[in-house]
Amino acid sequence: MLQGKKIILGITGSIAAYKIAHLTRLLVKEGAEVRVIMTAAATDFITPLTLATLSKNPVLQDTIASRTSGEWNNHVELGLWADLFLIAPASANTIAKMANGQCDNLLLASYLSARCPVMIAPAMDLDMYVHPAVKSNLDRLRSFGHLVLDAAKGELASGLNGQGRMQEPEDLLNEIRKALSKKKDLAGKTVLITAGPTHEAIDPVRFIGNNSSGKMGIAIADEALSRGAKVILICGPSSVKSAEGVMRIDVTGADEMFKAVKKYFSGSHIAIHAAAVADYRPAQRASQKIKKKDAALTIELEPTTDILKWCGEHKSKKQFLVGFALETENEIENARKKIRSKHLDLIVLNSLNDKGAGFAYDTNKVTLIGSNNKLARFELKSKQAVATDILDAVAKTIA
Ligand SMILES: Cc1cc2nc3c(=O)[nH]c(=O)nc-3n(C[C@H](O)[C@H](O)[C@H](O)COP(=O)(O)O)c2cc1C
Repeated sequence: MLQGKKIILGITGSIAAYKIAHLTRLLVKEGAEVRVIMTAAATDFITPLTLATLSKNPVLQDTIASRTSGEWNNHVELGLWADLFLIAPASANTIAKMANGQCDNLLLASYLSARCPVMIAPAMDLDMYVHPAVKSNLDRLRSFGHLVLDAAKGELASGLNGQGRMQEPEDLLNEIRKALSKKKDLAGKTVLITAGPTHEAIDPVRFIGNNSSGKMGIAIADEALSRGAKVILICGPSSVKSAEGVMRIDVTGADEMFKAVKKYFSGSHIAIHAAAVADYRPAQRASQKIKKKDAALTIELEPTTDILKWCGEHKSKKQFLVGFALETENEIENARKKIRSKHLDLIVLNSLNDKGAGFAYDTNKVTLIGSNNKLARFELKSKQAVATDILDAVAKTIA
């Protein structure tokens, strides 16, 4: 399957570097052409000799290959050569440099020159992995459209137990296979996606909102883009970045989101509503900050427009409409009712009863229900992987 595919493996200074010897062997066995680039720190963990032997190519380390002859390793050519660039293990240091466009070694120069898909497999101790600096650097890399292969949980080299282990070579191989076999099955399609919460103003400083982070809808937008779609993302307040290339319209309230949906819905082939839109908003928005008083305060709420229902009522036969349902009881029954009442083609059900699923988590556990009432249940996965499952189901149905 990987016959003739050109893969750069970028190795950085982590104890997990030894596992890349096995990955290199697996890739070469499948027929891939592998070039290895190592940082100076990586060579403390595994020898270039091992990787040169297994990859059947000299290992590249320095921008300048020979100071006596003036020979240098051409990072631009390497960047153009590759069909895929995997940085594994990716140290916190290299992740930070990649997120900021730093370029002080051959690995980073080649990364900045790469035109191919980039995948990053972090490896580090559990506290490093959850540090806000590392998390925001990884988010930044995701926003560039790179695939971050979330570290696994388990025993770490430090002896501690937690999240930080690089994914195993066999899992990395699978991700490489997936990335290189990715179909552009949404090419020529326009996909409209709503994501995030809405904020309904009470006064100039207060609002009614909800806990949606926007991560799920944004993961779908990024995935649709990578499958060749033109993507319009209408996003409520969210700090999560979307990939370069997604047409993102940031909105605040349900009303503003509805206006944007009305503008773009008829031009879309597929509409996926992952946003957690407020059902009610304050009937009056105070023009000045409401002053604190001793008496109780009553705020009258009025219903917002049901955006999903509106799309169901206005969709053409050629449009495919996907809704989300977050249920806390009678999940399947309620989701099936929603399919019928809102004229959906597919509903993505996530339950707050599942640990690790729903708002703010990086993972989700969903059940997809089609208009034929058939169920497909999925395990707890990263939101990126869930986005792939959802778009697989959409692409299969519209094919
Ligand atoms: C024994 C040992 C293990 C290390 N493991 C990791 C690791 O798993 N992840 C990480 O981010 N840094 C780790 N480091 C620190 C990096 O090697 C260090 O930050 C280095 O500067 C990374 O350089 P590079 O990103 O250019 O490869 C480790 C250091 C030592 C001494």
